[in-house]
Amino acid sequence: IPVDDFDLVIFGGTGDLARRKILPGLFRRFRSGQMPADSRIIGAARSELDTSGYRAMIREAIVEFGGDEKSDTDTLDQFLNALDYVAIDAKGEGGWSELKSLIRDKVIKAFYFSVAPSLFGDLAERLHAHEIADTDSRIVVEKPFGRDLASAQALNATLAEHFDERQIYRIDHYLGKETVQNLMAVRFGNVLFEPLWNSHYVDHIQITVAETVGVGGRGGYYDKSGAMRDMVQNHLMQLLCLIAMEPPSVFGANEVRDEKLKVIRALQPVEAHHIVRGQYDASDDAASYRADVENPRSFTESFVAMKCHVSNWRWSDTPFYLRTGKKMKARTSEIAVVFKDLGHKMFEGDSARHRNILAIRLQPNEGMDLQVTIKEPGPGGMRLIDVPLDMTFADALGDDAEDATDAYERLIMDVIRGNQTLFMRGDEVEAAWAWTDPIIEGWEARNDVPKLYDAGSAGPDDAMMLMHRDGRRWRDIKG
Ligand code: BG6
Repeated sequence: IPVDDFDLVIFGGTGDLARRKILPGLFRRFRSGQMPADSRIIGAARSELDTSGYRAMIREAIVEFGGDEKSDTDTLDQFLNALDYVAIDAKGEGGWSELKSLIRDKVIKAFYFSVAPSLFGDLAERLHAHEIADTDSRIVVEKPFGRDLASAQALNATLAEHFDERQIYRIDHYLGKETVQNLMAVRFGNVLFEPLWNSHYVDHIQITVAETVGVGGRGGYYDKSGAMRDMVQNHLMQLLCLIAMEPPSVFGANEVRDEKLKVIRALQPVEAHHIVRGQYDASDDAASYRADVENPRSFTESFVAMKCHVSNWRWSDTPFYLRTGKKMKARTSEIAVVFKDLGHKMFEGDSARHRNILAIRLQPNEGMDLQVTIKEPGPGGMRLIDVPLDMTFADALGDDAEDATDAYERLIMDVIRGNQTLFMRGDEVEAAWAWTDPIIEGWEARNDVPKLYDAGSAGPDDAMMLMHRDGRRWRDIKG
């Protein structure tokens, strides 16, 4: 769907996210002819740069972080010509009238708040005081959207003073991932799955987001957050919602978000013995979490595994197991829908347990596989084996899959199109915090100490036990 001309202002335009993701993403859209030629991008930040200095900075970023490999310098030059820069004082008056003079009247205006949440109110207020934003303008905000229910409510209230909910785009970049959207296409675009998508047929669901990276240079932020706030409250929760939600009547922003909200509200409080917190320890050549965050007494978790229940008609007997961690043995994100065993065994001599499993891989090797039971080839009679029907999207779709859009560029284009389907609504974010708050408060009240796991492993042994106790097991983490 083509987009109209726009002016996009990126507050925090010299920051990490802008250089790594936002601008390389916009450049890729420009290169594929999807950014209207008359659109402008304005970086706004504290640094005293001029426009040519900013263009040079972004040229370097695009070369470093991707997007330029398939294009000639002319295309990059043309893109950079669409960039301006304003040095701005978020809490004062400097730069605002210059920004106003750069913004055009008759185009879509979007303001990306790629800054600390403590500045959201200042920016929103000045955008109105200087009459830069209008009633059709959009603002884009990033996580962390609060660190608990109270702070998320306060942020929502601050934004609501200046903007309507229909103007606010809260990014969870997992919702922009190709396979995450494919999950909805698979569920609601095929007759095969939906009739089986319930407690009668589904034994359990596993959601794994395993990373090999540690906390990198983000120790300061991460040590105050932990995996629960950094990953579970948002990314894993969104995946759970999309897997568990009822089919909306149409694929519209509010219809989809209404259904996701119902799932979050149906989540039961999690019992303490259904959660395992972990923290990576040193191993071989890898440093420990505590060394990485330079806090020898840190009790922050870099791993969480948990068993949850969605208490509604569809899922009352199907547990959802979630797990995420840093410094794990492979980078893999997948959702596995594990179907129940057949009740009756009709093939003589076959006593093994056979299960259909639909595994949806988010990364790497985006795709799906469906484990099915077939006859082992050969003359040996009816011996059954389980094999995966593999559909790696890159194999099935060839070049089209390679061109898959990165999450950020897809989401930014949706902002310009005015499509909020893949963004979190304020009530959703608050409901997710309302569910995670008691869990975190419980840990704090008990001074809970996370279980150590070796960097490069599959997480603490207790996480394995969480499943074993129920006669189940986690799928292998392999890249
Ligand atoms: C971010 C988290 O939201 O998601 C990071 O803050 C995490 O800690 C990242 O590494 C994972 O994103 P992706 O797209 O690499 O899976």
